[in-house]
Order: sequence, then C-alpha cells, then structure tokens
Amino acid sequence: MISDCANQFHQFTPVLLRVKELEERNIALRNSVICAFNQLLDLKDLNTGVHSTRLAEWAVRVARELNIPEKDLYQFEVAALLHDVGKIGVPDAILKKPGRLTPEEKALMDKHPEYSWSILRMFPDLEEASLFALHHHENYDGSGYPGGLKGEEIPIGSRIVSVIDAFDAMISNRCYRKGLGHEEAMRRLDCDSGTQFDPVVVKCFISIASLEVANVFAATGTSATVVF
Ligand SMILES: [Fe+2]
Repeated sequence: MISDCANQFHQFTPVLLRVKELEERNIALRNSVICAFNQLLDLKDLNTGVHSTRLAEWAVRVARELNIPEKDLYQFEVAALLHDVGKIGVPDAILKKPGRLTPEEKALMDKHPEYSWSILRMFPDLEEASLFALHHHENYDGSGYPGGLKGEEIPIGSRIVSVIDAFDAMISNRCYRKGLGHEEAMRRLDCDSGTQFDPVVVKCFISIASLEVANVFAATGTSATVVF
C-alpha cells in the first residue's frame, strides 16, 4: 500500500508542481498589473503615485495594529495603493483645475471612487479591495459619498484609507503650500474624529504614527517632500 501511494504521489507531483507554478505566475502577473496601474497614476499626476505608495505602507501598519489577519492585509494594501485609480476617468481640466470646482465639475470628480471600483472589481480576487476603494470618501457621520454610509456600515479598509489619505495629504508639500508638521496633522485628524473619521482608526493611527512616519517615508524614498 505504501508503495502504491508513493507511485500515485510520483504521478501527481508534476501536476501539483505545474498548478503551483501557474498560481505563482498568476500572482506575479496580477502584481505587475497593480504596479502598472500605480505607474499610470504617477504619469497622470506625479504626486499621486508616490502618495499612494506611502498609503500602502501606512495601510498595512494600521490594519496590523487593528488585528486584521495577515492573510487579508493584501486587500488593504491594494486599496490604499489604487483607491484613486478611478481619477484616470476624470478630465485633466477638472483634476488639475487650480480654483474651486463648479457643482457640475465636482459631480464628475466625485465619480472617481465608483470608477476605481469598476476597475478593481475586474480582478477576480480583489473584490474586497474594490469595495474599500468604492467607499473611501464616505464619512463616519454619514455625510460622505457615494453611498452616504455611516459608522461601521463603511468597510474597515475604507475607514483606514480615509484617515491615512487625509494625513498624508496634510503633511505633503504642494506647489502652492508647504505641508503641515505631523503633530499638527494628527491634531486635525483628532478634531474630525467621529465626524469625518472613525475614532477607533484615528486613535490607532495616532498611536503608531510618530514611531512609524520616518519608516514609511524611508520605505518609499520620499522623506524630502515632508516638512516636520
Ligand atoms: Fe479619492
């Protein structure tokens, strides 16, 4: 019997190895496409791609701190990286308009989470990440978009992206203003905790931000763009 099993094992081994090889190739291909989309964001607006890369670093750190299982972290990482990929569908004249948007322009701009969802949902195993992207502009008090979701109705990945996106935007330099110091940015997050942001996520983020901010910027090679 043992020798029979051994024979069967020898028959199946090449098949199993082939399946494993195909799975690895699929994962590598999917990761390449994700990186290509991120590169596309970089080409569309230089700051967006770098900003998204930093968010992916933050998302994994915050999700771990909130005890999200390791096997699920990938969805958070992709959502942070590509939550704004739908901006590709917004005309440049609106994306890069220096002044205030008209109501019609704002309505078009506010479509970008839905566009992000429609792109990410095409990946068979990124369903969760696509939902995180769809709801990344929801507010904790229900005043956001596109669904007007409230509190824990908003997926946890979206609540995390909302906080880290705001933080990174506040501390980043722009051509028209200097970034805020990270203490001031954290104070502002705290002010909007419970209205715009999930208080649990804000508390968690603030508890790790001071320790991790240098690591996150070092990991993405962008320390020169931040003002402390
Ligand atoms: Fe967005």
